[in-house]
Amino acid sequence: MPLMRLDKFISGQMPSVSRNDAKELLKKGLVTVDGVVEKHYDFKLDPEKSVVAVSGNVITYREYLYIMLNKPSGVVCAVRDRITPTVMELLPPELRRPGLFPAGRLDKDSVGFALLTDDGELAHKMLSPVSHVPKKYFVRLEKPVSEDVPELFGSGMTIDGNEKCLPAELEILNPNIECFVTLHEGKYHQIKRMFQAVDNTVVYLKRTTIGGVILDDKLSEGEARLLEENEIKFLISY
Ligand code: URA
Repeated sequence: MPLMRLDKFISGQMPSVSRNDAKELLKKGLVTVDGVVEKHYDFKLDPEKSVVAVSGNVITYREYLYIMLNKPSGVVCAVRDRITPTVMELLPPELRRPGLFPAGRLDKDSVGFALLTDDGELAHKMLSPVSHVPKKYFVRLEKPVSEDVPELFGSGMTIDGNEKCLPAELEILNPNIECFVTLHEGKYHQIKRMFQAVDNTVVYLKRTTIGGVILDDKLSEGEARLLEENEIKFLISY
């Protein structure tokens, strides 16, 4: 790991602390590196080896952030938007960091698991049509799903005349206006358009799982948390 300047390390790992704030903390003798007070902002450290503490609290070094957000309806999956609130605005200060963006999109009226990260490589994998990371959705429909629809979805249906979809799994629930759909790609409004093609309408859509990582049911809509190590490993393994 390349060495990093101490003020950059502190402000990079503590989103609410600017580079100048970091210098102030250092001047006041509030920062220790491996247990020793360090006052020089240009002190160089190996972020993966040194233990840095501010006011006695150890800062866990994270090269990238991976955030699970339970997206509510009415916000868009974008970094910024002139009109509509974005998922980024829902993040608490301690989870904010420049460079974060949503890895994949949920429609404005869809809810559930949105993944935010600043790891471009992982995001690319999530979005790439070749990696086929499965994403599972709970769907409520206007009308009961007919029995022939699972086979149709499973065979890779064509939507809007010429758009060929990859095979998708459909599990009809009881009552049969509810189901789970698992996609291995992410076309624009895909689930809504798949059901439109079989003369039905989606009235509620919630993403519950991305690549085997399940939306934490302790997160209320609008709440976010960091992914745990094992969850990150799951995603990276794709
Ligand atoms: N399919 C849709 O139609 N909308 C979503 O938000 C996700 C999948």
